[in-house]
Order: sequence, then C-alpha cells, then structure tokens
Amino acid sequence: MSQPAQISVANRLPFCELHVHIEGTLEPPTIFALARAKGMALPYDSEAELSDAYQFTDLQSFLNLYYANLQVLQTEDDFYELAASYLRRAHVGGVAHAEMFVDPQAHSKRGISAATVLGGLQRAITAVSRETGITSSIIVCVLRDDPVEDAERMLDSVLESGFAVTGLGLDSAEVGYPPSLFKGVFDKARAAGLRLVAHAGEEGPAEYVWQALDTLGVERIDHGNRALEDPALVTRLANDHIPLTMCPFSNVRLRVIRELSDFPLRKALDAGLQITINSDDPAYFGGYLDDNLRALASTFSLTHEDCAELARNSVKASFMSAAERQRLEC
Ligand code: HPA
Ligand code: ZN
Repeated sequence: MSQPAQISVANRLPFCELHVHIEGTLEPPTIFALARAKGMALPYDSEAELSDAYQFTDLQSFLNLYYANLQVLQTEDDFYELAASYLRRAHVGGVAHAEMFVDPQAHSKRGISAATVLGGLQRAITAVSRETGITSSIIVCVLRDDPVEDAERMLDSVLESGFAVTGLGLDSAEVGYPPSLFKGVFDKARAAGLRLVAHAGEEGPAEYVWQALDTLGVERIDHGNRALEDPALVTRLANDHIPLTMCPFSNVRLRVIRELSDFPLRKALDAGLQITINSDDPAYFGGYLDDNLRALASTFSLTHEDCAELARNSVKASFMSAAERQRLEC
C-alpha cells in the first residue's frame, strides 16, 4: 500500500505558490494595527468582528471587503511588511518559490504609485530570500472591471518604474468582463518581455478560458474550474500543457464549489491537466498553501506520490529559469 501523505515542514516537498494575491494576505490584526497607526476609522470594533464578516456568497461579496481593507496599505514600508510576513509564513509552510499577484490599480486610484507598491514588495523579496532562501517574483494584475485605459496606464507606470516584474495577470470581478477586452494591454506586455496569465473560469464561462488562451495568449490559467465543463477545452489544456493554478479553500469560500470534497482534483488529474494548488487570498479563505494541501490530503486520501505530482506540477508551471527550476525538481 502506498504511504499516506504528510504535508509537513519535516517532510518538505518543493512547492511553488503561483496564485496568491499579496493584498489577500492582509490579516485582521495587521489591518487594525495599520488603521490605528494612521488614525483611520474602521467599520468594525474588533478583529473578531472583522473576521466574522468573512462570510462570502460569491466573488463580488469577497472583493468588496478585499478592496475596503487594502486601503490601510499606504507606504512603501506597509507593502514591505505585508510581503515579508507572507513570504516568512509561506517559507514555514514549505513554499520554496512564490509568484505574487499585486493589483497596482487598487492603489493608484488612492494616489499610491506603482513605484511605492513595487519598491516595498521588491525589498521584501530580497530581505526574506536572504533570511530563508525562499525565492519570489511579482505579477502585476489588471483590474478587469475597471476601464481598459486604466489597465494601459497601469502597465505603463509599472514599466516606467524600472522594478523587475515577471508577468501580467487579469483579476477582479469576472462575469461581464471577458479577457478579449484587454488584448491590447496583453500584447504590449508580451512585447515588453512579460509572462502572461489570467483568471478565467472561476465564475465566468469556459468561453473566457478560450479567450484567455487564444486572444490574450496566456501561459497559465488562474482557477479554470469551469474549463472542465468543455471537453474540447480540457483536451486543449492537456495537449498544450497549460497549467491551471487552482485554489481549493477559495473555491469553497466563494461558493464555486459546495464543499472541499467537490473540488475537481481527481477529475482534473485524470484528464491529464497540469494543476497546481494555491491559497489565492489566504487571510480571507481559511489558510495558506500548506493548509490547503493538508485538507486536500485528508479529504482525498492523497499519497506521498500524489503530493509529489502536485509539487512537480508547481515547479514546472513556474516562471523560474531552467536553472532555478532544476534546484527544486523532485
Ligand atoms: N478572484 C479574482 N480576483 C481576485 C481574487 C480572486 O480570488 N482575489 C483578489 N482579486
Ligand atoms: Zn485569484
């Protein structure tokens, strides 16, 4: 009989986290500490009251809180502390490499420049890498429910900032905002040497996944749950080795699925899809990457080999160089 899976620091497989929104790692105690330090009023009396509000009915109900809470992030130091805390926590949970999403438009609309945001994140990447060995990079995301011109301005400001950014992504409210709207922005990012990803098929239809692939030319799909409804799309994703960065706890908390046992892990693996496991917005959805993996291991009786396959998928799907990837191969 194969060995039961143990996801622990002692039995560490080299996982890459490829789908984590850095603003979604903002924990209630930090929200209160930052608000207090800045004299900002919060509509909650306590951290417990804030946490109690984390009852979501869909993606939009979560985004409302996510955008409200991130307003406490204002200075470069705030972004440094946010990313440093996440990277330390990820390292403890067995993450060897993280590609962090950030939403510059959510900050520029409050007067905070891309350089302030990226400067803080870059400083954290360097400091925590020295401290723990974890490596990390940044993927800036377009807010798809804001005008296309805002996305163009965001990309320009990121490129002008001179900070190293690995890729461009697409996030926020999905339904009604098809990927094809952003073809021009993605073309420009590709020409600037950025790697491309997009959220698609979380709440939106399989058609949005086709558009992300064929119109935007992305290399990974974030979530992609609804791709499983379309057999021709599943064949395309499998044949072209397009990774899906899936997020089990997020799917439950945003009601993409009813409960963890409905997470399409076996279905996706059996279809030959290169899926990876990620935390999405861990401060909001009940846990970090290792928490997601432990819950999956228990719900689906994963073997050590199952977990090793997920770890290998995450290394293969990462945007690390071939040499960096080799360091993590298992
Ligand atoms: N989905 C889409 N957009 C997001 C998310 C998410 O889970 N988190 C932050 N922005
Ligand atoms: Zn996401």
